[in-house]
Amino acid sequence: MERVVSGIRPTGRLHLGNYFGAMVNFVKMQETNDCLFFIADIHSLTTHPTPSDLHQNVKQTLIEYLASGLDPDKATIYVQSDVPEILELYTLFNMNAYVGELNRTTSFKDKVRQNPNNVNAGLLTYPVLMAADILIHHASKVPVGKDQEQHLEMTRTFARRFNNMYGVEYFKEPEAFNFGRQLIKIPGLDGSGKMGKSEGNGIFLADEPELIRKKVMRAVTDSGPSAPNSPISEPIQNLFTIMEVVSDSQTVQYFKEAYANCSIRYGDMKKQLAEDIIRFTKPIYDRMQEISADEAYLQKTVRRGAEKARAIASKTIREVKEIIGIKPF
Ligand code: TRP
Repeated sequence: MERVVSGIRPTGRLHLGNYFGAMVNFVKMQETNDCLFFIADIHSLTTHPTPSDLHQNVKQTLIEYLASGLDPDKATIYVQSDVPEILELYTLFNMNAYVGELNRTTSFKDKVRQNPNNVNAGLLTYPVLMAADILIHHASKVPVGKDQEQHLEMTRTFARRFNNMYGVEYFKEPEAFNFGRQLIKIPGLDGSGKMGKSEGNGIFLADEPELIRKKVMRAVTDSGPSAPNSPISEPIQNLFTIMEVVSDSQTVQYFKEAYANCSIRYGDMKKQLAEDIIRFTKPIYDRMQEISADEAYLQKTVRRGAEKARAIASKTIREVKEIIGIKPF
């Protein structure tokens, strides 16, 4: 069985793009792997959230992941800050991470450019914390998107460097788990590109049905097909792409034919699409309400996750300290 570790940014609200991009795959992976999923709240401190925002976002993210199907009976689900051993390993790894290599990290350079007034040391050492997240559990696989590949490469570097420095074969180098073609990219509603958080572009799992209808009805379209079998523009293709995910195949077929013979009315297509999105998200939405009303369940879930994660993490820390030469008297 592979051990899989993945960190989840506590962004608070999942949209359909996140759902089909990551969630669906996480839910599948937990069936056949030893998965550890955690909410990376310490990482999120690099952007200085307020205390109430931080807690609220961690909680909401947890609720949405549980409602989407992450199962604490199958996977270990925890909050990063509940496992202080990760921070211990992060400190130890920082001693072997060079400022030069951290400075050259693409994500760091992007952040410096975007936010020149908040270039903190936590941002610089973000890849070190991520390496600690992964190596503390001796993960063999890490599901990562393109933007995280360099971080995973650095994790491998830190693992190798530790082994070389102390002449041990202790950490193994984790591999990327690439979903490749299984990955469904959900486009946004604003006519181009993928679904994101910007106003009018994304549909969130937490959106009420009425809001979903409103957003879909306002989605960008074009002036309609001018001749039979004319090519489909990006905004319309995007609506079809979402429809292919949430609607049944006859429905998609029906509107494709209507487009081809120029009888399509975008208003009808959007109405149908909105109802199908609502039908799809309703069980998740209902479960979110249930879970958020059940403080005891949430508390039990994070405690259980932390306990399981700490059992592994504390063993790693004990062994690492022994290797480094930090020994009890
Ligand atoms: N950096 C990841 C992201 O931005 C989140 C993350 C933190 C992570 N620690 C991790 C992902 C460990 C995988 C493994 O999405």
